[in-house]
Amino acid sequence: MTAANEQYWDALSHEYQAVTRIATDNFHYGPLLPGDQELGLLPPLQGGQTALEIGAGAGQNSIYLASLGLRCTALDVSRRQLQHGRELPGADRVCWVQAGMERLPFPLTPTFDLVHSTYALPFAEAPEEVIGAMAALLRPGGHLVLTTGHPLFAAEWLDIDDEGSGMFVRDYYNPPADVRFCEESDAFIAARVQPIGELVSQVAAAGLRIVQVAEPSPLPLPVLSELEIAARMPYHSPEWRELYPLAAAIPLVVVIIAERMSEKASR
Ligand SMILES: C[S@@+](CC[C@H](N)C(=O)[O-])C[C@H]1O[C@@H](n2cnc3c(N)ncnc32)[C@H](O)[C@@H]1O
Repeated sequence: MTAANEQYWDALSHEYQAVTRIATDNFHYGPLLPGDQELGLLPPLQGGQTALEIGAGAGQNSIYLASLGLRCTALDVSRRQLQHGRELPGADRVCWVQAGMERLPFPLTPTFDLVHSTYALPFAEAPEEVIGAMAALLRPGGHLVLTTGHPLFAAEWLDIDDEGSGMFVRDYYNPPADVRFCEESDAFIAARVQPIGELVSQVAAAGLRIVQVAEPSPLPLPVLSELEIAARMPYHSPEWRELYPLAAAIPLVVVIIAERMSEKASR
């Protein structure tokens, strides 16, 4: 599965990075959403702290955090995604690591002040194990900032006679997988999102204290000028902009902020 993910993202990477505008001067949580400079979800950060990004793609969030003085590592399974990142301004301040999130290439000891991931968990074979590993890598007082697909956005968008349109949720507890075919590996890959209660339980079971669960809504795209979009929306593409009516009605992502308590506080 990890090999198929690697080949799929290697094949998609060039187009993904070419059509998606991903800023490096803000922290993004997903398409059409305000960045952290507006949402303020990130925990207080200080220069010299260590940060690890899981499923970083081209690591734009890591490049932003490195510009604040954090010592950043960006990990992704796709060599080509990382190569795009290495070519971005500010890339030399980030340590780039090619590896699958299921088999992290370093010991699971408390090493980082911040572990963050934006829309990579849906590609994990066993998300609860990845969450456990992310938690194990946090120092006491360190934070997890986990952004993943919202389970409602996996529902089906329907036009209903005389009632307008809306989402049809067949089974909230088992959201349908987004299955994609990878020609290079002649294999299917699946992106799976989880019910929010399940995700929160997995983060809590990993020993972290939940600080916040956020379901950010998009910026009001139809009334924004291109200048405002460039300044306030760190992640967008023409395809996502067309999906604005859906994104304005249903959360695209859920963001879970959690903290590893110091040993004293957790007693
Ligand atoms: C939707 S992209 C998001 C990339 C980046 N976080 C962003 O916000 O632009 C998902 C990323 O997860 C990576 N990925 C998929 N499966 C992975 C795995 N098993 N281990 C590590 N990274 C993986 C892909 O290569 C891709 O870069």
